[in-house]
Amino acid sequence: AADIADQLSTVLVTEEQIHAKLDEIAARVAADYAGKDLLLIGVLKGAVMVMADFSRALPETVPMDWMAVSSYGAATKSSGVVQIRKDLDTDLHGKHVLIVEDIIDSGLTLSWLLENFASRGAESIEVFALLRKPDAAKVHVDCKYIGFDIPNEFVVGYGLDYAEGYRNLRDVAVLAPHVYS
Ligand code: PRP
Ligand code: MN
Ligand code: MG
Repeated sequence: AADIADQLSTVLVTEEQIHAKLDEIAARVAADYAGKDLLLIGVLKGAVMVMADFSRALPETVPMDWMAVSSYGAATKSSGVVQIRKDLDTDLHGKHVLIVEDIIDSGLTLSWLLENFASRGAESIEVFALLRKPDAAKVHVDCKYIGFDIPNEFVVGYGLDYAEGYRNLRDVAVLAPHVYS
């Protein structure tokens, strides 16, 4: 296989930086949700790595559920019209929900999810996103826990894909333009 380093331009966030940040946010979440009925909801597939490492940085047992969504209609995700591919298994009534996402890009996926979850009787709903692109925002999303603000570039790794590839990289890196142009 081709050398993966040739397909990346710069590493934006290293594995070490990610893990240090996850420890920091896990400590905040543990304190904020002490004594509360917390449910982590991961958004498939990008959030798999964040969920795996973040949940293990928490000091106590915590349930997790998963939601798979996909945009449809146009070729891009910018329509904001979202289709449920896999719904939650959990009843949200009385639960303190923390949505775990890899990245907020336009914000459309999360704003749709927040609205969808709000109608299901959760006690509270907050968001943890490892990455956010402030310059790409199309809608504002209230996000209580943010790992890193990054520039508006095509990033892959640590769950983030290009054509389903690169999710298994340990760092978050900018994809070299020759790969997709
Ligand atoms: C990516 C990413 C976020 C979403 C962010 O998911 O994992 O879920 O896009 O974009 P937005 O803020 O513009 O809505 P994608 O739809 O590529 O699915 P995936 O997680 O399976 O890769
Ligand atoms: Mn996603
Ligand atoms: Mg994707």
